[in-house]
Amino acid sequence: MLAAILREESEELFMEHIPLPEPKNGEVLIKVLSTGVCHSDLHVVKKHVKFPRPAILGHEVFGQIVQISENDKSVFDFAEDDFVVTSFIMPCNNCEQCNSGLTNICSSFFFNNRLNGNMLDGTKRLQDKVGQEVSSYSMAGFAEYAVVPISAMAKVRGDLADKSWCVLGCAGITAHSAVKRAILTRQMEGAPYKTAIVIGVGGVGLFITLFCKIFGIENIIAIDIDDKKTELARDLGATHAFNSAKMNVQDIKASLPGQGAHLVFEAVGSAATIELGFGLVSEGGLITVVGIAPHGTTASFEITPLVRREFTIKGSFGGKPKDDLSAVIKLAEQGLIPLEKIVNQNYALKDINTAFFELDKGITRGRSIIDFANKGL
Ligand SMILES: NC(=O)c1ccc[n+]([C@@H]2O[C@H](COP(=O)([O-])OP(=O)(O)OC[C@H]3O[C@@H](n4cnc5c(N)ncnc54)[C@H](O)[C@@H]3O)[C@@H](O)[C@H]2O)c1
Ligand SMILES: [Zn+2]
Ligand SMILES: [Zn+2]
Repeated sequence: MLAAILREESEELFMEHIPLPEPKNGEVLIKVLSTGVCHSDLHVVKKHVKFPRPAILGHEVFGQIVQISENDKSVFDFAEDDFVVTSFIMPCNNCEQCNSGLTNICSSFFFNNRLNGNMLDGTKRLQDKVGQEVSSYSMAGFAEYAVVPISAMAKVRGDLADKSWCVLGCAGITAHSAVKRAILTRQMEGAPYKTAIVIGVGGVGLFITLFCKIFGIENIIAIDIDDKKTELARDLGATHAFNSAKMNVQDIKASLPGQGAHLVFEAVGSAATIELGFGLVSEGGLITVVGIAPHGTTASFEITPLVRREFTIKGSFGGKPKDDLSAVIKLAEQGLIPLEKIVNQNYALKDINTAFFELDKGITRGRSIIDFANKGL
Protein backbone atom coordinates (compact mmCIF):
# COMPACT_ATOMS: atom_id res chain seq x y z
CA MET A 1 0.00 0.00 0.00
CA LEU A 2 1.01 3.62 -0.43
CA ALA A 3 1.88 5.47 2.78
CA ALA A 4 3.36 8.83 3.78
CA ILE A 5 6.28 8.07 6.10
CA LEU A 6 7.98 10.48 8.48
CA ARG A 7 11.64 9.53 8.76
CA GLU A 8 14.44 10.63 11.10
CA GLU A 9 15.66 14.22 10.93
CA SER A 10 13.16 15.26 8.30
CA GLU A 11 10.18 17.57 8.18
CA GLU A 12 9.13 16.03 4.89
CA LEU A 13 6.96 12.95 4.55
CA PHE A 14 8.05 10.40 1.94
CA MET A 15 5.65 8.44 -0.25
CA GLU A 16 6.56 4.75 0.02
CA HIS A 17 5.02 1.41 -0.88
CA ILE A 18 4.91 -0.79 2.23
CA PRO A 19 3.32 -4.17 3.11
CA LEU A 20 -0.35 -4.24 4.14
CA PRO A 21 -0.66 -4.46 7.96
CA GLU A 22 -2.40 -7.43 9.63
CA PRO A 23 -5.01 -6.72 12.31
CA LYS A 24 -4.96 -8.78 15.53
CA ASN A 25 -7.95 -9.80 17.64
CA GLY A 26 -9.98 -6.77 18.66
CA GLU A 27 -8.77 -4.83 15.62
CA VAL A 28 -9.98 -4.38 12.05
CA LEU A 29 -8.30 -3.42 8.80
CA ILE A 30 -9.94 -0.49 7.07
CA LYS A 31 -9.54 0.96 3.62
CA VAL A 32 -8.88 4.62 4.30
CA LEU A 33 -11.15 6.95 2.32
CA SER A 34 -10.09 10.22 3.93
CA THR A 35 -7.93 11.51 6.79
CA GLY A 36 -7.93 14.95 8.40
CA VAL A 37 -4.74 16.98 8.75
CA CYS A 38 -4.55 18.12 12.39
CA HIS A 39 -2.10 20.49 14.02
CA SER A 40 -1.16 17.66 16.42
CA ASP A 41 0.31 15.75 13.43
CA LEU A 42 2.23 18.92 12.54
CA HIS A 43 3.58 19.15 16.11
CA VAL A 44 5.09 15.68 15.58
CA VAL A 45 6.49 16.59 12.13
CA LYS A 46 8.17 19.67 13.62
CA LYS A 47 9.40 17.74 16.69
CA HIS A 48 7.38 20.00 19.01
CA VAL A 49 6.12 16.72 20.44
CA LYS A 50 8.35 13.65 20.69
CA PHE A 51 7.29 10.56 18.77
CA PRO A 52 9.36 7.53 17.68
CA ARG A 53 10.29 7.49 13.97
CA PRO A 54 9.92 6.22 11.32
CA ALA A 55 6.23 6.86 11.73
CA ILE A 56 2.95 7.16 9.91
CA LEU A 57 0.75 9.98 11.22
CA GLY A 58 -2.93 10.69 10.53
CA HIS A 59 -5.46 10.19 13.31
CA GLU A 60 -8.91 11.22 12.10
CA VAL A 61 -10.11 8.77 9.52
CA PHE A 62 -13.20 7.89 7.52
CA GLY A 63 -12.97 4.45 5.96
CA GLN A 64 -14.52 1.11 5.19
CA ILE A 65 -13.85 -2.18 6.98
CA VAL A 66 -12.17 -4.74 4.74
CA GLN A 67 -11.08 -7.32 7.34
CA ILE A 68 -12.51 -8.36 10.71
CA SER A 69 -12.17 -11.73 12.44
CA GLU A 70 -15.21 -14.04 12.70
CA ASN A 71 -14.93 -13.88 16.49
CA ASP A 72 -14.92 -10.08 16.58
CA LYS A 73 -17.84 -10.02 14.16
CA SER A 74 -19.90 -12.09 16.56
CA VAL A 75 -18.91 -10.03 19.64
CA PHE A 76 -19.06 -6.52 18.14
CA ASP A 77 -21.60 -4.97 15.84
CA PHE A 78 -19.19 -4.52 12.92
CA ALA A 79 -18.78 -6.30 9.58
CA GLU A 80 -16.90 -6.00 6.30
CA ASP A 81 -18.02 -3.03 4.16
CA ASP A 82 -19.26 -1.01 7.15
CA PHE A 83 -18.34 2.67 6.92
CA VAL A 84 -16.64 3.93 10.08
CA VAL A 85 -15.17 7.09 11.59
CA THR A 86 -12.23 6.49 13.90
CA SER A 87 -11.51 8.17 17.21
CA PHE A 88 -7.90 9.27 17.69
CA ILE A 89 -8.23 8.12 21.30
CA MET A 90 -7.93 4.32 21.27
CA PRO A 91 -8.99 3.13 24.74
CA CYS A 92 -7.92 -0.24 26.19
CA ASN A 93 -11.17 -0.39 28.26
CA ASN A 94 -9.14 -2.12 30.96
CA CYS A 95 -6.88 0.35 32.80
CA GLU A 96 -7.71 2.36 35.92
CA GLN A 97 -8.71 5.40 33.84
CA CYS A 98 -10.89 3.38 31.47
CA ASN A 99 -12.48 1.51 34.40
CA SER A 100 -13.49 4.79 35.97
CA GLY A 101 -15.04 5.98 32.70
CA LEU A 102 -12.20 8.33 31.71
CA THR A 103 -11.44 6.51 28.46
CA ASN A 104 -10.12 9.73 26.88
CA ILE A 105 -7.12 9.60 29.20
CA CYS A 106 -6.60 5.81 28.91
CA SER A 107 -3.15 5.11 30.38
CA SER A 108 -2.48 2.22 28.04
CA PHE A 109 -3.21 4.28 24.91
CA PHE A 110 -1.00 7.09 26.17
CA PHE A 111 1.93 4.84 27.09
CA ASN A 112 1.77 2.38 24.20
CA ASN A 113 0.74 4.70 21.41
CA ARG A 114 1.53 8.31 22.20
CA LEU A 115 4.87 7.60 23.88
CA ASN A 116 6.00 4.48 21.99
CA GLY A 117 4.14 4.43 18.66
CA ASN A 118 2.66 0.97 19.33
CA MET A 119 -0.80 -0.51 19.28
CA LEU A 120 -2.45 -1.33 22.61
CA ASP A 121 -0.65 -4.70 23.00
CA GLY A 122 2.71 -2.90 22.91
CA THR A 123 3.67 -4.06 19.40
CA LYS A 124 3.70 -2.48 15.94
CA ARG A 125 1.63 -3.50 12.92
CA LEU A 126 3.55 -1.52 10.30
CA GLN A 127 6.87 -2.07 8.62
CA ASP A 128 8.53 -0.57 5.58
CA LYS A 129 9.62 -2.46 2.46
CA VAL A 130 12.96 -3.47 3.98
CA GLY A 131 11.28 -4.79 7.12
CA GLN A 132 12.02 -1.88 9.50
CA GLU A 133 9.22 -1.36 12.03
CA VAL A 134 7.18 1.83 11.64
CA SER A 135 5.27 3.60 14.46
CA SER A 136 1.56 4.37 14.23
CA TYR A 137 0.36 7.74 15.49
CA SER A 138 -3.12 6.58 16.61
CA MET A 139 -4.22 4.40 13.66
CA ALA A 140 -1.74 5.83 11.11
CA GLY A 141 -4.28 7.17 8.63
CA PHE A 142 -1.91 8.69 6.08
CA ALA A 143 -1.80 5.34 4.30
CA GLU A 144 -4.21 3.49 2.02
CA TYR A 145 -5.09 0.96 4.74
CA ALA A 146 -5.03 1.17 8.54
CA VAL A 147 -5.40 -1.15 11.52
CA VAL A 148 -7.91 0.24 14.01
CA PRO A 149 -8.82 -1.11 17.47
CA ILE A 150 -12.55 -1.80 17.64
CA SER A 151 -12.68 0.42 20.74
CA ALA A 152 -11.72 3.41 18.58
CA MET A 153 -14.36 3.57 15.88
CA ALA A 154 -18.05 4.00 15.25
CA LYS A 155 -20.23 2.99 12.35
CA VAL A 156 -21.73 5.69 10.15
CA ARG A 157 -24.51 5.51 7.57
CA GLY A 158 -23.06 4.98 4.11
CA ASP A 159 -25.94 6.95 2.54
CA LEU A 160 -25.16 10.05 4.64
CA ALA A 161 -21.47 10.05 5.44
CA ASP A 162 -18.84 11.36 3.08
CA LYS A 163 -15.12 12.02 3.08
CA SER A 164 -15.44 15.19 5.19
CA TRP A 165 -16.69 13.10 8.14
CA CYS A 166 -13.15 12.01 9.05
CA VAL A 167 -12.70 15.28 10.96
CA LEU A 168 -15.26 14.16 13.52
CA GLY A 169 -12.66 11.70 14.85
CA CYS A 170 -10.33 14.29 16.38
CA ALA A 171 -11.49 17.90 15.96
CA GLY A 172 -15.13 16.84 16.44
CA ILE A 173 -14.77 14.69 19.56
CA THR A 174 -12.19 16.99 21.16
CA ALA A 175 -14.41 20.05 20.83
CA HIS A 176 -17.54 18.18 21.87
CA SER A 177 -15.93 16.83 25.02
CA ALA A 178 -14.38 20.19 25.97
CA VAL A 179 -17.61 22.17 25.56
CA LYS A 180 -19.90 19.56 27.09
CA ARG A 181 -17.73 19.12 30.19
CA ALA A 182 -17.19 22.86 30.66
CA ILE A 183 -20.96 23.41 30.66
CA LEU A 184 -21.55 20.45 33.00
CA THR A 185 -18.98 21.90 35.42
CA ARG A 186 -20.75 25.27 35.43
CA GLN A 187 -24.16 23.63 35.86
CA MET A 188 -22.88 21.58 38.81
CA GLU A 189 -21.77 24.79 40.52
CA GLY A 190 -24.95 26.68 39.64
CA ALA A 191 -22.74 29.16 37.77
CA PRO A 192 -23.73 31.03 34.58
CA TYR A 193 -22.41 29.97 31.17
CA LYS A 194 -23.85 32.64 28.91
CA THR A 195 -20.55 33.84 27.45
CA ALA A 196 -17.77 31.76 25.91
CA ILE A 197 -14.53 32.80 24.24
CA VAL A 198 -12.77 30.59 21.73
CA ILE A 199 -9.10 31.54 21.25
CA GLY A 200 -7.82 30.14 17.95
CA VAL A 201 -10.51 29.23 15.44
CA GLY A 202 -8.71 26.71 13.27
CA GLY A 203 -9.95 23.15 12.79
CA VAL A 204 -10.59 22.48 16.48
CA GLY A 205 -11.67 26.02 17.43
CA LEU A 206 -14.36 26.08 14.71
CA PHE A 207 -15.87 22.91 16.15
CA ILE A 208 -15.74 24.44 19.65
CA THR A 209 -17.57 27.50 18.28
CA LEU A 210 -20.20 25.29 16.67
CA PHE A 211 -20.77 23.18 19.80
CA CYS A 212 -21.05 26.33 21.95
CA LYS A 213 -23.88 27.36 19.61
CA ILE A 214 -25.49 23.89 19.62
CA PHE A 215 -25.33 23.77 23.44
CA GLY A 216 -27.10 27.13 23.62
CA ILE A 217 -24.39 29.56 24.72
CA GLU A 218 -25.66 33.08 24.11
CA ASN A 219 -22.48 35.07 23.42
CA ILE A 220 -19.75 33.26 21.51
CA ILE A 221 -16.60 35.29 20.97
CA ALA A 222 -14.05 34.09 18.43
CA ILE A 223 -10.49 35.37 18.78
CA ASP A 224 -7.75 34.76 16.22
CA ILE A 225 -4.86 36.61 14.61
CA ASP A 226 -6.40 36.21 11.15
CA ASP A 227 -9.68 37.92 10.22
CA LYS A 228 -10.45 35.28 7.59
CA LYS A 229 -10.50 32.65 10.36
CA THR A 230 -12.88 34.64 12.57
CA GLU A 231 -15.16 35.19 9.55
CA LEU A 232 -15.50 31.41 9.29
CA ALA A 233 -16.24 31.28 13.02
CA ARG A 234 -19.02 33.85 12.61
CA ASP A 235 -20.50 31.62 9.95
CA LEU A 236 -20.51 28.74 12.46
CA GLY A 237 -22.17 30.68 15.26
CA ALA A 238 -19.73 33.21 16.76
CA THR A 239 -21.64 36.35 17.75
CA HIS A 240 -18.52 38.53 18.17
CA ALA A 241 -14.99 38.37 16.78
CA PHE A 242 -11.71 40.02 17.73
CA ASN A 243 -8.27 40.02 16.21
CA SER A 244 -5.76 39.64 19.05
CA ALA A 245 -2.91 40.74 16.76
CA LYS A 246 -4.58 44.14 16.48
CA MET A 247 -6.15 44.58 19.93
CA ASN A 248 -4.73 44.20 23.41
CA VAL A 249 -6.33 42.22 26.20
CA GLN A 250 -7.77 45.28 28.02
CA ASP A 251 -9.50 46.55 24.87
CA ILE A 252 -10.91 43.12 24.08
CA LYS A 253 -12.14 42.75 27.67
CA ALA A 254 -13.80 46.16 27.57
CA SER A 255 -15.65 45.16 24.39
CA LEU A 256 -17.04 41.90 25.80
CA PRO A 257 -20.67 41.56 26.76
CA GLY A 258 -20.62 41.36 30.59
CA GLN A 259 -17.58 41.19 32.86
CA GLY A 260 -15.39 38.64 31.08
CA ALA A 261 -16.24 35.22 29.73
CA HIS A 262 -17.73 32.48 31.92
CA LEU A 263 -15.96 29.96 29.71
CA VAL A 264 -12.70 30.32 27.81
CA PHE A 265 -11.50 27.68 25.37
CA GLU A 266 -7.87 27.91 24.30
CA ALA A 267 -7.29 26.04 21.01
CA VAL A 268 -3.84 27.26 19.92
CA GLY A 269 -1.27 25.88 22.36
CA SER A 270 0.99 28.74 23.48
CA ALA A 271 1.85 30.66 26.63
CA ALA A 272 0.56 33.91 25.09
CA THR A 273 -2.90 32.52 24.30
CA ILE A 274 -3.31 30.83 27.70
CA GLU A 275 -2.33 34.09 29.37
CA LEU A 276 -4.80 35.92 27.12
CA GLY A 277 -7.45 33.50 28.39
CA PHE A 278 -6.57 34.43 31.97
CA GLY A 279 -7.01 38.07 31.09
CA LEU A 280 -10.47 37.54 29.60
CA VAL A 281 -12.12 35.01 31.93
CA SER A 282 -14.84 36.23 34.31
CA GLU A 283 -14.58 35.99 38.09
CA GLY A 284 -15.14 32.34 39.00
CA GLY A 285 -14.74 31.42 35.31
CA LEU A 286 -13.35 28.29 33.70
CA ILE A 287 -10.47 28.16 31.20
CA THR A 288 -10.33 24.94 29.20
CA VAL A 289 -6.99 24.40 27.47
CA VAL A 290 -7.20 22.25 24.35
CA GLY A 291 -4.13 23.48 22.47
CA ILE A 292 -0.95 21.42 22.70
CA ALA A 293 2.25 23.42 23.03
CA PRO A 294 5.81 22.58 21.97
CA HIS A 295 7.61 20.37 24.49
CA GLY A 296 8.76 22.31 27.58
CA THR A 297 6.50 25.35 27.03
CA THR A 298 5.31 26.92 30.30
CA ALA A 299 2.78 29.65 30.95
CA SER A 300 2.45 31.81 34.05
CA PHE A 301 -0.37 33.43 35.97
CA GLU A 302 -0.64 35.40 39.19
CA ILE A 303 -1.55 33.14 42.10
CA THR A 304 -3.61 35.42 44.32
CA PRO A 305 -6.27 36.38 41.71
CA LEU A 306 -6.53 32.68 40.85
CA VAL A 307 -7.40 31.98 44.48
CA ARG A 308 -9.47 35.03 45.40
CA ARG A 309 -11.48 35.13 42.13
CA GLU A 310 -11.66 31.34 41.89
CA PHE A 311 -10.55 30.84 38.30
CA THR A 312 -10.31 27.26 37.13
CA ILE A 313 -7.83 26.09 34.53
CA LYS A 314 -8.47 22.66 33.09
CA GLY A 315 -6.82 20.60 30.36
CA SER A 316 -9.02 18.65 27.95
CA PHE A 317 -7.73 15.76 25.85
CA GLY A 318 -9.75 14.20 23.02
CA GLY A 319 -13.10 12.68 23.83
CA LYS A 320 -14.65 9.35 24.70
CA PRO A 321 -15.38 7.13 21.69
CA LYS A 322 -18.55 5.73 23.30
CA ASP A 323 -19.99 9.13 24.25
CA ASP A 324 -18.44 11.91 22.20
CA LEU A 325 -17.86 10.04 18.93
CA SER A 326 -21.42 8.67 18.99
CA ALA A 327 -22.78 12.11 19.85
CA VAL A 328 -20.97 13.95 17.05
CA ILE A 329 -21.94 11.27 14.52
CA LYS A 330 -25.57 11.62 15.59
CA LEU A 331 -25.38 15.41 15.15
CA ALA A 332 -23.79 14.95 11.72
CA GLU A 333 -26.48 12.45 10.72
CA GLN A 334 -29.11 15.01 11.76
CA GLY A 335 -27.44 17.52 9.44
CA LEU A 336 -26.43 19.78 12.35
CA ILE A 337 -22.71 19.89 11.56
CA PRO A 338 -22.06 21.97 8.43
CA LEU A 339 -18.89 20.13 7.47
CA GLU A 340 -18.74 21.99 4.15
CA LYS A 341 -17.93 25.13 6.16
CA ILE A 342 -15.20 23.42 8.20
CA VAL A 343 -13.42 21.30 5.58
CA ASN A 344 -12.13 23.80 3.03
CA GLN A 345 -9.14 22.02 1.45
CA ASN A 346 -8.81 18.59 -0.09
CA TYR A 347 -5.44 17.09 -1.09
CA ALA A 348 -4.19 13.88 -2.66
CA LEU A 349 -1.93 11.82 -0.36
CA LYS A 350 1.04 12.68 -2.57
CA ASP A 351 0.47 16.37 -1.77
CA ILE A 352 0.54 15.88 2.00
CA ASN A 353 3.64 18.03 2.44
CA THR A 354 1.76 20.94 0.87
CA ALA A 355 -1.10 20.36 3.31
CA PHE A 356 1.34 20.53 6.25
CA PHE A 357 3.13 23.58 4.80
CA GLU A 358 -0.18 25.46 4.49
CA LEU A 359 -1.26 24.48 8.01
CA ASP A 360 2.10 25.62 9.38
CA LYS A 361 1.92 28.98 7.59
CA GLY A 362 -1.67 29.66 8.68
CA ILE A 363 -2.96 29.47 5.09
CA THR A 364 -5.34 26.60 5.86
CA ARG A 365 -8.90 27.67 6.66
CA GLY A 366 -10.70 25.29 9.01
CA ARG A 367 -9.59 21.73 8.32
CA SER A 368 -7.78 20.12 5.38
CA ILE A 369 -8.32 16.50 4.50
CA ILE A 370 -6.41 13.94 2.49
CA ASP A 371 -8.91 12.45 0.05
CA PHE A 372 -7.77 9.00 -1.10
CA ALA A 373 -10.03 9.21 -4.17
CA ASN A 374 -8.06 12.30 -5.23
CA LYS A 375 -5.03 11.03 -7.12
CA GLY A 376 -3.80 14.56 -7.75
CA LEU A 377 -3.49 14.05 -11.48
N1 LIG B 1 -6.56 18.49 23.35
C1 LIG B 1 -6.70 17.69 22.30
O1 LIG B 1 -7.15 16.57 22.42
C2 LIG B 1 -6.35 18.21 20.95
C3 LIG B 1 -6.93 17.64 19.80
C4 LIG B 1 -6.63 18.19 18.56
C5 LIG B 1 -5.77 19.26 18.46
N2 LIG B 1 -5.18 19.75 19.59
C6 LIG B 1 -4.28 20.91 19.54
O2 LIG B 1 -5.11 22.07 19.40
C7 LIG B 1 -4.38 23.08 18.73
C8 LIG B 1 -5.18 23.57 17.54
O3 LIG B 1 -5.27 22.53 16.58
P1 LIG B 1 -5.90 22.80 15.14
O4 LIG B 1 -5.74 21.55 14.36
O5 LIG B 1 -7.22 23.46 15.26
O6 LIG B 1 -4.85 23.90 14.58
P2 LIG B 1 -5.03 25.00 13.45
O7 LIG B 1 -3.66 25.35 13.01
O8 LIG B 1 -6.05 24.54 12.47
O9 LIG B 1 -5.68 26.23 14.24
C9 LIG B 1 -4.95 27.10 15.07
C10 LIG B 1 -5.64 28.48 14.99
O10 LIG B 1 -5.02 29.32 15.94
C11 LIG B 1 -4.80 30.58 15.35
N3 LIG B 1 -3.69 31.21 16.06
C12 LIG B 1 -2.36 31.00 15.94
N4 LIG B 1 -1.67 31.79 16.80
C13 LIG B 1 -2.59 32.51 17.47
C14 LIG B 1 -2.51 33.50 18.48
N5 LIG B 1 -1.34 33.89 18.97
N6 LIG B 1 -3.65 34.04 18.94
C15 LIG B 1 -4.87 33.64 18.47
N7 LIG B 1 -5.00 32.70 17.50
C16 LIG B 1 -3.88 32.14 17.02
C17 LIG B 1 -4.50 30.28 13.90
O11 LIG B 1 -4.70 31.40 13.08
C18 LIG B 1 -5.49 29.15 13.62
O12 LIG B 1 -6.73 29.67 13.23
C19 LIG B 1 -3.03 22.44 18.36
O13 LIG B 1 -2.09 22.75 19.37
C20 LIG B 1 -3.34 20.96 18.38
O14 LIG B 1 -2.19 20.18 18.61
C21 LIG B 1 -5.47 19.25 20.81
ZN1 LIG C 1 -5.93 15.87 16.14
ZN1 LIG D 1 -7.40 2.22 29.25
